Amino acid sequence: MPVITNIDDLHRIYRRRAPKMFYDYCESGSWTEQTFRENTSDFAQIYLRQRVAVDMANRTTATELVGEQAAMPVALAPVGLTGMQSADGEIKAARAAEKFGVPFTLSTMSICSIEDVAEHTTKPFWFQVYTLKDDDFMRRLFDRARDAGCSAIVVTVDLQVMGQRHKDIKNGLSAPPKPTLTNMLNLATKVRWGLGMLGTKRRFFGNIVGHAKEVTDPSSLATWTAEAFDPSLDWERIRTFKKMWGGKMIVKGIMEPEDAVQAVNAGADAIVVSNHGGRQLDGALSSIRALEPILQAVGDKVEVHLDSGIRSGQDVLKAVAMGAKGAWIGRAYVYGLGAMGEAGVTRALEVIHKELDTSMAFTGHRDIKEVTRDILHVPRGFSGDWD
Ligand SMILES: Cc1cc2nc3c(=O)[nH]c(=O)nc-3n(C[C@H](O)[C@H](O)[C@H](O)COP(=O)(O)O)c2cc1C
Repeated sequence: MPVITNIDDLHRIYRRRAPKMFYDYCESGSWTEQTFRENTSDFAQIYLRQRVAVDMANRTTATELVGEQAAMPVALAPVGLTGMQSADGEIKAARAAEKFGVPFTLSTMSICSIEDVAEHTTKPFWFQVYTLKDDDFMRRLFDRARDAGCSAIVVTVDLQVMGQRHKDIKNGLSAPPKPTLTNMLNLATKVRWGLGMLGTKRRFFGNIVGHAKEVTDPSSLATWTAEAFDPSLDWERIRTFKKMWGGKMIVKGIMEPEDAVQAVNAGADAIVVSNHGGRQLDGALSSIRALEPILQAVGDKVEVHLDSGIRSGQDVLKAVAMGAKGAWIGRAYVYGLGAMGEAGVTRALEVIHKELDTSMAFTGHRDIKEVTRDILHVPRGFSGDWD
């Protein structure tokens, strides 16, 4: 068993063990990848203020996220094709999150279905919906999420059209992989992955195949997105979703204060400041830079969370100190999953928790809920003084 002390360790093992196609799918941003890179590098521009001789005993990182108890202000973000990173990946990640005590979000584009994940977990999870043209499909999706006991829906609003990730095109990304010579040669070197896949029936988009009509190639994410997603989505439709669902709604993918206000008006219980991990609009600001103006616009009306670029507990601490109620992780847990399955996701959460807890202590705090921006040195103009 390798000694894992940080998220980079998991990343290295993941890179070795996962098929190239799925590693590239995870580790890409759109176009030039500027936003993908800056999501992480901008966190490094914010510094933490060390305090000493402050009582650091009896610390807690516990909080509430959208009214639910969480062991730390972290949630697992929705990630498509997770069940291709490791067999039954969504079930493994959901179980690890449940045991650790943080929310898990299942993507519409998951391999394990809503029903599958519900059957293998005991706590309600969050379900992420993409907005599809087919209203019947949407209605059924909400019904299925309700029947599975999901406690919130996460409406992702930044993928009406898909940002181009060059490697996915070159690799011919699909679930499952097509039996081409290049794929076969690569998969032959991924024995652990292959054995896992041989042992499961879950190899297709579980929420889609058998549920959606008129998709010519349901194994292709790109085809499915182009044919089924609703490019004409507007706030009225999001208001309709809130009514169709009737429960808590989190709106994910907000980068501008005007859109944050619209999300609140559409009935959002929380919003996630997110640029989709740099996978959609290349050249957008990093999420951590976009946070402050959004907080100023709606911070007293709605819970504001953030994702994109979080790779450590220090990043979580910075996001929380900047005013985010929760920090969601995408790649950080996928690295763990692809490296070591459920145990890897648990390890990713343990690493982040320890870093968060210890860094919080160094900044002179014992309770994450009391952490404020006072613990930070933020460069002048960090959140923008743009024309
Ligand atoms: C491989 C991958 C697949 C993703 N799939 C989805 C998805 O199906 N739905 C969604 O709302 N966001 C999706 N996202 C975006 C994540 O929810 C989240 O916004 C992003 O991963 C955060 O950035 P980080 O990976 O740097 O933590 C995906 C991200 C990655 C890396």
